[in-house]
Amino acid sequence: MDKAIKITDGIHWIGVNDRETDIFEALWPLPQGVAYNAYVIEGDKTVVIDAVKGPWFSDYLAKIKSVIGEKPVDYLVINHMEPDHSSAITSLLLAYPNMKLIGNPKTFPLLKGFYGEFSEGSTVEFKDGAAFDIGGHVLTFATVPMVHWPESMVTYDASAKILFSSDAFGGFGAHEGGIFDDQKNSERWENEMLRYFATIVGKYCSTTQAALKKLGGIELEMICPAHGTLFRKDVKKVISLYDRWSRYENERGAMVVYGSMYGNTKRMAEAVCRGLAESGFSNTLLYDVSRTNASYLLRDFWKMKGLVAVSCTYNGGLFPPMSDFFSKLANRKPKNHVLGLAGSYSWSKGGLDALRCYANELGWDRVEPEPEVFASPKLDDLESCAQLGRNMAKKLLEED
Ligand code: FEO
Repeated sequence: MDKAIKITDGIHWIGVNDRETDIFEALWPLPQGVAYNAYVIEGDKTVVIDAVKGPWFSDYLAKIKSVIGEKPVDYLVINHMEPDHSSAITSLLLAYPNMKLIGNPKTFPLLKGFYGEFSEGSTVEFKDGAAFDIGGHVLTFATVPMVHWPESMVTYDASAKILFSSDAFGGFGAHEGGIFDDQKNSERWENEMLRYFATIVGKYCSTTQAALKKLGGIELEMICPAHGTLFRKDVKKVISLYDRWSRYENERGAMVVYGSMYGNTKRMAEAVCRGLAESGFSNTLLYDVSRTNASYLLRDFWKMKGLVAVSCTYNGGLFPPMSDFFSKLANRKPKNHVLGLAGSYSWSKGGLDALRCYANELGWDRVEPEPEVFASPKLDDLESCAQLGRNMAKKLLEED
């Protein structure tokens, strides 16, 4: 999309679609790309909200010019300093040398750290809650620390009732024609929004809850995040989703994740699933940890109350892909889950013990038994795994 898109009178989307970056933060795959959203507001002064990732600067600048022509940009609001939003700032300053950069007290040390010194008169610092009248629009800046970085802030335009929400409410996925929720497949944006939440924001649930409370009273016609879908139809729905996700509210479901080199441990995981199904439980997902990127595991884990991890042992420790998944889980310290464990070994134990160490760190309720199988599972081993599935189903049904 090479044209700016009008959002409302005097405000345009000037963001870009990135379908070339394969891995966001060099960690999370982007099969549907990602959008860096940015906006221009025309009052007596011209204000741009957020920059984009550096290589997409020319597309972004062309969109700005398609709206304001040869007028200058007077201010750039830096809601967030992560380089996916900030690395085009220096190029924008070259295009508009008199432009001033707006941030909060935590913005400018990061700006200097990433991009060097800026002349003293080129930055304007606003404290939390400060308002800035640009003539025709009054912008209010609210800090939302650790959603996603310490300097993160959001910008509210009270006349348009629009919240420019930075990473909050953002999602993976480039725009596919429409930029608004009512122009898109809702299942697709919700899945990619949850994957973004689980990977990027989900470590910071308590600060996300604080931000939701802080912003709770404002009137909203639109939420315009820095990634993904813009919301004008489902504003209440996305606030409710964010509230639920950041309170660790989940559904009565079970995710079974296995790591298996030769298929023996996979049979144990399948037996766990059979136990769940025998108990009348239908909301079960089975994943091979070696063949599923952790971002998809984290996304579906966030929805499901129950997790059963079934892993082989590798060199006397936990199978590396399972270790990677659990280290990402432990990093986020999610709450309100029930855990089941099973392991296998041949010439050395170690996999199940390592899972138990993670389980102790995470502190969730556990479901027994915890089968530990030598070499390949025998019929009684598979029955024990099925019992784990039945007990998980019972626990989840009891807690509903
Ligand atoms: Fe989209 Fe935290 O940057």
